Amino acid sequence: MLAELELIWSLVYHRATSKYAILSEAPHAHSGPEMGSLKHWKITMQLLDGKACSAKIRQEIAKTVSEIKASGQRAPHLAAVLVGNDGASQNYVAFKVKDCAEVDFESTTIRLEDTISEQELLAKVNELNNNDAIDGFIVQLPLPKHIDENKIILAINPAKDVDGFCPENVGRLNLGLPTFISATPNGIMELLKRYEIDTEGKHCVILGRSNIVGTPMAVLMSRNTNPGNATVTIAHSRTKSLAALCSTADILIVAIGKTEFVTADMVKEGAVVIDVGQTRVPDDSKKSGFRNVGDVDFENVKNKCSYITYVTGGVGPMTRASLLQNTLKANLRR
Ligand code: GUN
Repeated sequence: MLAELELIWSLVYHRATSKYAILSEAPHAHSGPEMGSLKHWKITMQLLDGKACSAKIRQEIAKTVSEIKASGQRAPHLAAVLVGNDGASQNYVAFKVKDCAEVDFESTTIRLEDTISEQELLAKVNELNNNDAIDGFIVQLPLPKHIDENKIILAINPAKDVDGFCPENVGRLNLGLPTFISATPNGIMELLKRYEIDTEGKHCVILGRSNIVGTPMAVLMSRNTNPGNATVTIAHSRTKSLAALCSTADILIVAIGKTEFVTADMVKEGAVVIDVGQTRVPDDSKKSGFRNVGDVDFENVKNKCSYITYVTGGVGPMTRASLLQNTLKANLRR
């Protein structure tokens, strides 16, 4: 009889995620609604595997590239401009180059001294705008303080702006027109789509209002699309009662740049949590001398979630895959 009861109670419908939660026998698991003395239950958490998902996207891209080449056309070509010696930026660009090789794109890295003047960098951008052998390019941010990032972004030809940062592409995104969508928000949408996460009518709280992540993310999540159709709140450093607001989120997207900022008390049971943060923290136990820490206190938050990303193998690889998708798009549009 008890065994039967256990079977009956072993699945609990979870409204926020439209999924079923499995009852857990573990007494230490966080408790759900009172269920007499039978047992406690916990939401089964699923890790959103950006690494696996991006590998699939790269496979799809590589297949298209082989078709492009078979038709006698040249492969897509991405250029990356790297100014100075910032370790994280060097790493990001190295990964982008490696990704290009994997899908058989051509890539060019243009390394410039951090003493370069704004005028010289603008001249380099102009040169890339007019180079027909290059489909798209990025200028890795941040730039040295003496260079106005906005001036550089404004100088990029929108047809080659595979970062999706320039006004024309941002405007087109806001109007729902075909464009290059900024890589991180696009990667997150792709992750939500491929895991078939239901976003319609859900409350999506976005922590962070940057031009690169928070703001385009809000546009994408509120659009009449799937995923999308969410009710979106953008929160930031001046938002009042931030913890209380976050705990109303069905979907919490965190891009605030503060390590382990989101703690378990800020997360609703069954929420989908996407961690965009990636901060290098010194760590002598690592060969590199650092480890990456996200904006979410993963260890304590994970068991409350229906889905969550981890600082490595989560949003990062999806961002990189999106850049490849945009570069392919730039090539096909020519
Ligand atoms: N720095 C951090 N993220 C990005 C990005 O997506 N593109 C560029 N160009 N620079 C960045």
